[in-house]
Amino acid sequence: MEELKKEAAEKAVEQVKSGMVLGLGTGSTTYYAVAKIGQLWQDGKLTHIVAIPTSEQTAAQAQSYGIPLTTLNEQAVIDLTIDGADEVDPQLNLIKGLGGALLREKIVETASRRFIVVVDSSKIVQKLGTHSPLPVEVTQFAWQAHLRWLETLECQPILRCQKAGESIPFVTDNGNYIIDCFFPNGINDPTTLALSLNSHAGIVGHGLFLNMADEVIIADKDGIKSQKAKI
Ligand code: A5P
Repeated sequence: MEELKKEAAEKAVEQVKSGMVLGLGTGSTTYYAVAKIGQLWQDGKLTHIVAIPTSEQTAAQAQSYGIPLTTLNEQAVIDLTIDGADEVDPQLNLIKGLGGALLREKIVETASRRFIVVVDSSKIVQKLGTHSPLPVEVTQFAWQAHLRWLETLECQPILRCQKAGESIPFVTDNGNYIIDCFFPNGINDPTTLALSLNSHAGIVGHGLFLNMADEVIIADKDGIKSQKAKI
């Protein structure tokens, strides 16, 4: 599995060019993309790049290679972002956020000219919500009220904790909580669900990334495939 993640990530890095403003995703697959970019940077094969990380964890990894970091305050447009996903459906819609960085990921990926998703084939689903819960980032303020409202969406919402079996909530880089929403039959209408979540006060982000991916690079034991979004 690790080898497949690495293959997909390194394939995406072939599209990184000197001079680009890069968005760096978060997670165990993106880890290999950042490592490859870092190596190319240190070898002088990539020059004049700046990167915007989607989490403190990715920022630390990028800094460990000396990759220059910037922010969306300084660079309004990102040339290319590479990130993983928890699920990918046939329309290239995604669930993201099991790693907890969904809010910054969505901000960075929305500001990107090109967004490439890197996954192994275990992430491919026919219907979103089949394998993965939908992560929803909520304010700590009134989080139990947010959880009760999420219950009305025909899912089972569970507050994410730092460790399984313990009750200390996981806190995002933005100081919020995450409620993981389990849909017993998958998500029937992701667009309508996203609109509901977008318009509910106290919900600051969610893991439905619809019509955002330009390309998905999928590694499986038979090799690497790429699917491009229909324009
Ligand atoms: C981080 O918040 C997530 O969106 C990750 O990009 C996603 O969970 C994929 O992570 P892995 O590559 O570790 O599976």
